Amino acid sequence: MAKQMHLNAFTQCCVNHHSKGQWKNPLTRSTDGYRNVHYWTELARTLERGLFDSLFLADVHGTYSVYKGSARTAIEQAVQIPGGDPTLIISAMAAATQHLGFACTFSTSYFPPYHTAKLFSTLDHLTGGRVGWNVVTSYLADALANFGLKDELTHDQRYDRADEYMSVVYKLWEHSWEDNAIVRDRVRDIYTDPDRVHKIDHEGAWFNVPGPHMCEPSPQRTPVIYQAGASGRGNAFAARHAEAIFCIHPHIAAAAKDVKKVREAVVQAGRSPGDIKIIQGVAVIVAPTDEEARLKEQTFRSFSNAEGVLALFCGWAGIDISALPPGTRLEDCEWKAIQGLRGFFSNVDPDRDWTLEAISDFMAIGSIFPKIVGSPQAVADELERWIDEADVDGFNIHAVTQPTGFSDFVDLVVPELQRRGRMRTSYEGSTLRESYFGAGNQRLSKTHPAYQALPPWKFGPLHS
Ligand SMILES: Cc1cc2nc3c(=O)[nH]c(=O)nc-3n(C[C@H](O)[C@H](O)[C@H](O)COP(=O)(O)O)c2cc1C
Repeated sequence: MAKQMHLNAFTQCCVNHHSKGQWKNPLTRSTDGYRNVHYWTELARTLERGLFDSLFLADVHGTYSVYKGSARTAIEQAVQIPGGDPTLIISAMAAATQHLGFACTFSTSYFPPYHTAKLFSTLDHLTGGRVGWNVVTSYLADALANFGLKDELTHDQRYDRADEYMSVVYKLWEHSWEDNAIVRDRVRDIYTDPDRVHKIDHEGAWFNVPGPHMCEPSPQRTPVIYQAGASGRGNAFAARHAEAIFCIHPHIAAAAKDVKKVREAVVQAGRSPGDIKIIQGVAVIVAPTDEEARLKEQTFRSFSNAEGVLALFCGWAGIDISALPPGTRLEDCEWKAIQGLRGFFSNVDPDRDWTLEAISDFMAIGSIFPKIVGSPQAVADELERWIDEADVDGFNIHAVTQPTGFSDFVDLVVPELQRRGRMRTSYEGSTLRESYFGAGNQRLSKTHPAYQALPPWKFGPLHS
């Protein structure tokens, strides 16, 4: 039987996070809609109508200020600023839907793990088990300062710290409260049995957290764990922790190689290859015919803003490419931010001279996402190729205009995928984890490290 695909809508609580300049496009309603709760509830209903797994929310906490050494361009061109907090829109969307999941980006570099555990447990309760966490270590230079923190860790140390961070949240989510701790015994006048609630007494290199967790066990306990870093250290982190990896490969051949490596790394980490879903980012422009889709793409291009595109790219690379001598090869530069994107452009085309103009032209719409433009049949053909040839499990869809690009996908592409047996026709269960791993799988797989000692921070005694 043909493999079915998972679908997330990839977005951010901001004007438009990846297609710079589209705020001017009359088809874009996120321009001011992003700060209106009804915009979000309507989008969530649309995605649930299309049986999407989740709405996937990116997030940042600083400005894209690398390009030309200033945040001026980013602010002028609405490069992820202004924006809002993704965690606050989730419960409103959950109230408007019954099955759609919500994957929320949250950084281990800014927020303490105790706070993160409480926040995601609360969201998991309020959504009835439909929340996921995209664990990121982040990359914007000025964000740390906004939290009163110093930029003193190397890229890999941020991941080392994140490993211990995960150990703390796992203890809080999985080990602090026993399933039957809440007794609500009116006869004995006891709400919670204190013998079934445990401190975690975590003492490590980076964190000391006594606990216990503030929240009783939520439907999934641990939210579905996503991860998005693609460096070597990021992949090692993903192999250990992630249940879904969000990647952006420029083409199918590059993805195929990487997916194989990731699945092997997961097995080496003591898990089963089926414990992880690999989700590729794609930008889709669909219309009833190929010709109409191409016309749409041309119109979208006319709204693009090259300066905004470059501000976005330089923030990801941590390199001000406006200051590089002509002819400099990007991968010879020191990448200070997202290491996993270092070889991206030579992977797209090793022979091309990646000048400022070439980069901004390539990223003009949908940034670095591979673009799929065409009729519903053409889009479905291409998505099937990614699934069959690269062995990815699904897609984070970027819509160039929002929410219209998502509703077009739901109305035109989803029925075609269903006709081909490539998409579900109803949800599998009530939680996000069941959407990914099947009915009955509300909790983490037993091979997940949340249940094991994570050296060098072994889980402390449950009773203390
Ligand atoms: C596809 C993708 C999406 C990402 N989304 C975010 C995000 O929304 N917020 C954020 O702080 N970091 C995001 N990151 C970067 C992560 O913070 C990542 O943990 C960090 O940059 C290290 O990545 P690396 O392992 O590739 O160097 C993203 C990275 C990729 C590749």
